[in-house]
Formats: sequence, structure tokens, C-alpha cells
Amino acid sequence: MSKNTLKICIGTPCHLMGAADLLESVENLNHKLREKIELKTSHCIDNCCEKAPVAEFNGKVYQDLNPEKLDKIIRENIR
Ligand code: FES
Repeated sequence: MSKNTLKICIGTPCHLMGAADLLESVENLNHKLREKIELKTSHCIDNCCEKAPVAEFNGKVYQDLNPEKLDKIIRENIR
């Protein structure tokens, strides 16, 4: 089974804007969702730092995130 790939940026701007909260929210996803996701970190995604925090899910970049937005993105796009 190929997994969904979630890359969360932990570069300084994203770190300052709450990247740790995003990581924590992914770790707290229910087990069924969490096991389908390969979680990676990055030190910058497409130079989107002005719109931090940033993450990439299955190749698409999402900006200006918070845990609620990321949760919605995951649920709507998970394979
Ligand atoms: S540091 Fe996060 S997008 Fe550049």
C-alpha cells in the first residue's frame, strides 16, 4: 500500500508560526488515518516562508496553516 506523504516545514519562519503544533496534531490523528501517512519534515518548501507555516500533502503545497486547516486537508485528500 503506498502511503500518503505529508511534509511539514520546520524551517525557522514555519517553526515560529507553529510548525510544532502541526506536527503534534498529525501525531494525534486517529490511528486509521495516521497509519496511512508518511510524515516527513523539511527546512523550506518552495520558498513559501512568508505564508508560514507551510506543508505539502501528496505533492500539493498548503500555506498559512493551523492544526484545524491541516486536519481538513488531510481528511479531504487522503487516499
Ligand atoms: S521555512 Fe517554511 S516554507 Fe520556508
